[in-house]
Amino acid sequence: MCGIMGYIGHRDALPILLDGLRRLEYRGYDSAGVAVLGNGHIEVRKAAGKLARLTEVAQTAGLLGSVGIGHTRWATHGLPTDQNAHPHSDCTGSVVVIHNGIIENFLSLKEALVARGHTFRSDTDTEVLAHLIEEALAAGAGVPLEEAVRRAVAQASGAYAIVVLCSDQPDRIVAVRQISPLIIGLGRDETILASDIPALLAHTRDVLIIEDGELAVLTRRGATIQTLDGAPVRKAPVRITWDAEMAEKGGYAHFMLKEIHEQPRALQETMMGRLDAEGRVELDGVAYTDEQIRALQKVWVTACGTAYHAGLFGRWLIEHWAKLPVEPDLASELRYRDPLITPQTLTVAISQSGETADTLAAVREARTRGSRILAVTNVVGSTLAREADDVLYVRAGPEIAVASSKAYITMLAAQAMLALDLGRRRETITPPRAAALIQQLKALPAKAQEVLNREDVVRRLAERLAAADHVFYIGRGLDYAAAMEGSLKLKEISYVHSEALAAGELKHGTLALVTKGTPVFALVTQRHVYEKTLSNIQEVKARGGDVIAVAYDGDEEITKYAGTVLRIPRTDDMLAPVLAIIPLQLLAYHVARLRGNDIDQPRNLAKSVTVE
Ligand code: F6R
Repeated sequence: MCGIMGYIGHRDALPILLDGLRRLEYRGYDSAGVAVLGNGHIEVRKAAGKLARLTEVAQTAGLLGSVGIGHTRWATHGLPTDQNAHPHSDCTGSVVVIHNGIIENFLSLKEALVARGHTFRSDTDTEVLAHLIEEALAAGAGVPLEEAVRRAVAQASGAYAIVVLCSDQPDRIVAVRQISPLIIGLGRDETILASDIPALLAHTRDVLIIEDGELAVLTRRGATIQTLDGAPVRKAPVRITWDAEMAEKGGYAHFMLKEIHEQPRALQETMMGRLDAEGRVELDGVAYTDEQIRALQKVWVTACGTAYHAGLFGRWLIEHWAKLPVEPDLASELRYRDPLITPQTLTVAISQSGETADTLAAVREARTRGSRILAVTNVVGSTLAREADDVLYVRAGPEIAVASSKAYITMLAAQAMLALDLGRRRETITPPRAAALIQQLKALPAKAQEVLNREDVVRRLAERLAAADHVFYIGRGLDYAAAMEGSLKLKEISYVHSEALAAGELKHGTLALVTKGTPVFALVTQRHVYEKTLSNIQEVKARGGDVIAVAYDGDEEITKYAGTVLRIPRTDDMLAPVLAIIPLQLLAYHVARLRGNDIDQPRNLAKSVTVE
């Protein structure tokens, strides 16, 4: 989720690049850099931290030229340092590359390049591209930059957008899109490139949207687009009518809605390069050995809020697939009792920000008791990531809305991979079962998109629920874990009181609160407890409760019990929460919207809670 800028025209490139990067700041970043081409020579400046640092460094250097590229980085490989900031250069300094996304096979490419004599200056996956392009250009005289880029990307796998500048071919910028977004703005005698529309609006409203598998050559006079096979692509410019604020949110009314809709792509990125068809899991950043995993006696899962709810899902999967007892523990509670954490324990700490004070304190407590620490986090280089032995990045991209959505869903996918890995190493899950689950995991992004396509049903339901005072969520097993997250979403942004209960617990007290018309969401994706949950739904109906089910497509039985059914595509029951949470996130969003609340910044809440 990096920010990308490119400029070729008649004006000074540097101020335009810096202004564009500033307009992409809302995407979040940890370092930034620019490269400007002038007098046949490329000058690069980069800086970790705030954009103000880069601005100072670049302005002091007085970079002059009317061609350039710029980048804000959200680290995925390598810490956020000056060195790892983009652009990255080849050995000669005549090719520079910026990149958004992941090159999955970068390690093997890097090994081969080093063996052929290339010198690397960063830990990033991006740098391999600069060296591959260098080789392609050196293969013969007069190789056009676009051809060299095409040869380089043919060797790389992954999801990315890349932008390349070469001092020997100063009349062009070459860009390729493979999943990560790229947009070209068409100005008068100037062409501008960005990863997102807000960075272009100060210059033009006429844009070309690059699609996956397309390569663009930008010149001062416009852009030509071709496929990666070299076939020309004709496309008409699109006129953007959004105002600047709408553009930041990708046309959505709120960051939260944008982030909910980004979930299919986020899931894809979480799993990218980590799963293979033979049922193997390759978790970059996780360094435990088979021996260490076989010696484990217990797993502790600790986190707060939404991340804790994600941990409840992990508990089920690790117990089921890796046959290890798992203790989920709220981070704020863990350290104030006497947790029986030992050196034979693995502590899994989950945190979007990696800075939550309670979670960090729990991790330090576990550490003093000799436990290995595995962090599941979204922020590269966060305190949690730095203190952990193993780090599993969820790769959700920057999450701006206070109420978490895409971070939660990617925490689920990351833990599913972790549980599979533990199960494979402990030989408690067979290779065919693991392979079947991997197939199901890989199908989740498309299924998540199907759920999002059904938003209208949820929007209508929200109208019915907008005036409710109390809402209940029930489910058994993994449905209970998802119910807890659905309930938290509703209360934190809509301010409607809600409670989640294990469905079997309802009759032990809370049923007293269910009267005529009380909305009760019943999640029924877990087949082994399906009939039992139906009995609990009957208890609600008998008191006049308004039952809304979350159920699989094709489950006709449920329509006899629930007045409204929110449908999700079928998947393995163990993965169902990944899909079941989506209609509940959307419901919370639409109820909050109808109640006129400040959705992205709900009252009394902060994105990252750095006090205990
Ligand atoms: C709710 C929410 C919070 C966080 C919690 C932990 O939508 O976002 O409950 O999940 O404060 O934050 P992280 O994951 O940053 O440790």
